[in-house]
Amino acid sequence: MEQPLPNNRNFEKEKKPTIIEAISLYKEYDTGKIKVQALKGIDLHIQQGEVVAIMGPSGCGKTTLLNCLSGLDGITSGTVRIAGQDIRGLSDKELTSFRAREMGFVFQTYNLLPVLTGLENVELPLLVSGVRPKDARQRAWASIEQVGLTNWARHRPAEMSGGQRQRFAIARALATVPSIVWADEPTGALDSKTSQEIIDLMLRLNREHGLTFVWVTHAIDVARQAQRLITMSDGNIEEDLSTEDLQLQSSTQGFTA
Ligand SMILES: Nc1ncnc2c1ncn2[C@@H]1O[C@H](COP(=O)(O)OP(=O)(O)OP(=O)(O)O)[C@@H](O)[C@H]1O
Ligand SMILES: [Mg+2]
Repeated sequence: MEQPLPNNRNFEKEKKPTIIEAISLYKEYDTGKIKVQALKGIDLHIQQGEVVAIMGPSGCGKTTLLNCLSGLDGITSGTVRIAGQDIRGLSDKELTSFRAREMGFVFQTYNLLPVLTGLENVELPLLVSGVRPKDARQRAWASIEQVGLTNWARHRPAEMSGGQRQRFAIARALATVPSIVWADEPTGALDSKTSQEIIDLMLRLNREHGLTFVWVTHAIDVARQAQRLITMSDGNIEEDLSTEDLQLQSSTQGFTA
């Protein structure tokens, strides 16, 4: 069966290019009555193959940042480049197909369509982006194999556990062979054991295929398994640390305390 993902086993040894770039990124929401400055000049570079966690209090702009970087939401000013492409230089149609090609999305509430089976949910974005039905089916199966759920492919989401639903959501995100997967609180609705299984799955996909992951999370246990932790506060990046440094920092603090 066709493997849907590039196999970059030597990925660690290669020099990794920047895949996500934000320069002086501002986002203002204007609801008519009030204006909210949701992002206040974000500068950020993420390399291909990184796993980055974003934390911060509710309302600090994490989802807005994900939506602006992925082009789901328009930006007020600044620059966003994905794989070198300035996304403001693309028409709506071009942006939609760029996103379909380059990115997958995983959400807290899975966002699976209840009337479709797991297989059909995974197939859908492929069909929407114009892949022929026969190829779409083949790629969907390969993607479902990646997440280890072939036995559940014919079931509808209502018959599945939260963990199984999230695995199908990950399979759906992988089906278009993206280079980036954005995950907004991917474990937010899961118990800690299932949450760890989902994290392990994403880390394996990162290791084996060099996929770049950006996780928004409220859980420090999740965040410390990323390679890098960005902390946001009120529309700004407050701290940007490798998790190795973070561990060193907390062990030093533990030592001196
Ligand atoms: N569509 C919108 N229209 C107007 N204001 C918005 C919109 N989306 C977000 N905001 C505002 O932008 C700010 C940042 O919101 P955002 O959803 O990015 O926060 P968050 O960090 O993801 O929070 P949470 O952890 O609760 O998900 C908040 O003040 C929010 O009210
Ligand atoms: Mg949010």
